[in-house]
Amino acid sequence: MIRKALMTDAVEIRNLVNYYADKDKMLAISLNNVYDRLRDFFVVESDGKIVGTIALHFVWENLGEIRSMAVAENFQGQGIARDLLRVAIDEAEKYSCSRVFTLTYVPEFFQKYKFKIIDKHDLPHKVWADCINCPKFPDCGEIPLAYDLDMEK
Ligand SMILES: CC(C)(COP(=O)(O)OP(=O)(O)OC[C@H]1O[C@@H](n2cnc3c(N)ncnc32)[C@H](O)[C@@H]1OP(=O)(O)O)[C@@H](O)C(=O)NCCC(=O)NCCS
Repeated sequence: MIRKALMTDAVEIRNLVNYYADKDKMLAISLNNVYDRLRDFFVVESDGKIVGTIALHFVWENLGEIRSMAVAENFQGQGIARDLLRVAIDEAEKYSCSRVFTLTYVPEFFQKYKFKIIDKHDLPHKVWADCINCPKFPDCGEIPLAYDLDMEK
């Protein structure tokens, strides 16, 4: 059910994320950004439509970022986000990445899966290079959380 994104998914990924961005539930993404990072994305497809997405972007030594997690409203509550998060963490492990973090408005979701709130100043400066280009910088209000894959062993 979960697969890597294809070129043909880019517009639907952008639309799903921006549907929630318009409601201030996550930050908006441009089509350019989706194409740039297409290989980061996993999607869930149902009847030819993209109904769930997540991205894992490598940032720095041993550090990956979980981004753009969204599930279409009529598909929520079925464990799709949980499964997407699992797949993204498994992918991080395949690349010997030992820590993933996320910036989110729904910390409770990630805390359920053992992510811990961190101080955003502990993240590498590179992370803020993206933030500077965001219209909400510097007051986006997103909460930083991290998960150490070593904890699984
Ligand atoms: C947050 C979101 C991705 C969850 O998707 P979902 O597929 O409905 O989530 P799941 O069904 O996999 O939920 C798994 C568990 O997390 C819980 N959960 C889901 N959304 C939650 C939330 N917003 N806060 C806290 N817990 C949440 C569920 O109750 C479930 O718990 P359970 O196993 O004890 O029943 C979805 O609501 C969404 O797309 N929201 C809008 C976009 C957004 O906020 N994205 C996150 C920004 S990074």
